[in-house]
Amino acid sequence: MKIRRTIPPVAAPVDMNMLFHGITGLFKGESHLKRLERETMDYFNVKHVFFVSSGKAALTIILNALKSLSPERGEILIPAYTCFSVPSAIKKAGLKVALCDIDPKTFDFQQGLLKSAINKKTLCIMPNHLFGIPSDVKGIKDVCKGKGIFVLEDVAQAMGGEMKGNKLGTLGDVGFFSLGRGKNITCGSGGIIVTNSDRIAEAINGIYSELEYPNMKEQIKDLLQIIAMNIFIRPSLYWFPSGLPHLKLGETFFYKNFPVKKLSGMNAGFLWGWQKRLESLNKIRREAARLLNKCLGLQKDYDGAIAYLRLPFVASSKELRDKIYSSSREKGLGISLMYPTPINEIEELEGQFNGMAFPQAKVVSERLLTMPTHQFLSKKDKEDICRLFRTYVNASASDIHKRNAEDIPKKYRKVKDNEAYNYN
Ligand SMILES: Cc1ncc(COP(=O)(O)O)c(C=O)c1O
Repeated sequence: MKIRRTIPPVAAPVDMNMLFHGITGLFKGESHLKRLERETMDYFNVKHVFFVSSGKAALTIILNALKSLSPERGEILIPAYTCFSVPSAIKKAGLKVALCDIDPKTFDFQQGLLKSAINKKTLCIMPNHLFGIPSDVKGIKDVCKGKGIFVLEDVAQAMGGEMKGNKLGTLGDVGFFSLGRGKNITCGSGGIIVTNSDRIAEAINGIYSELEYPNMKEQIKDLLQIIAMNIFIRPSLYWFPSGLPHLKLGETFFYKNFPVKKLSGMNAGFLWGWQKRLESLNKIRREAARLLNKCLGLQKDYDGAIAYLRLPFVASSKELRDKIYSSSREKGLGISLMYPTPINEIEELEGQFNGMAFPQAKVVSERLLTMPTHQFLSKKDKEDICRLFRTYVNASASDIHKRNAEDIPKKYRKVKDNEAYNYN
């Protein structure tokens, strides 16, 4: 364990005001939940909202509701590279995971493959806005048109994002957000379901109304975890939890089971002032992504519209990816790996995808790195990240550290497209 400044890969810290309201939520949770309901309906301009214990719980509830509306269907089509919590929830809802390969530049479905990936058993398609990058929900809706397939948006990593002025999460039939650690905003753990469909809301309500609230003991345990998280998420202290392997920070799990409950009053209290907070944290992420993009020349057309929760980079080889990652770990720069395999290789789903290949998802699982974009990233951290990438990806510009990340002169070569996206 090295004691030195260490950047967490993602961070959405809480402040004293949120802590105060979180504690009051232990005693007057109902009023916090009512306030949250009103605010969420207004912010997303939706008719129905439900607050639950996690994003996974939200997804499980939605899937059970959709299943009750179309019992003859049982397949959920998801991208072959996504968070393992997604297939965990599909399995928990007693449904079947179906996969479609991804586009490695957007992490969205490869649109050309979608038509052949659906069938009469497809209950819904789940676009997932990974890292905050909006999925082409309109294209997906066109594919589903007239086929009785629902579009369920997974907005766990993109809360507050928009597509042509419309909020992500409201583009399909139903959507959900995660309020877990390291998401756009957090209250420790939580999930929000949004929909404008009365029919879907009624089905969800049938399930939701039977759920329990976490008890006082669970809420206090949660509260202590949020406080600890908030202390140790700071770069001056993050070296400590990141050096404890048993905490398994940053690891991805396929959960065989998890609680499905209502959101606690304490968690709801922590969301005091969430809209302002969401806007300001996302603004910081956009700005950091803009600087890193500019410095590394990753996307020439990036207009600062996407609030990247992490900024993705697909290296030209696994070896290069591993070198950059281990160098970043030594320096504590917060560059991180993502999901270790495509979904078809998850042990618990073994045998389900025999003979099927998802080559782009495989490549991405082996070569993807993500850069932090959160509020703890200093100007020097951004410069150090740029310098590190330049060292490995484009040695000719390795003196980039002499420059400010905000003002990288044009003469420094940009990372070539084929260096970032060479899959052959
Ligand atoms: C894309 C995606 N979907 C769903 C989830 C599940 O959310 P939660 O952790 O709140 O259960 C996550 C969480 O990491 C996620 O990244």
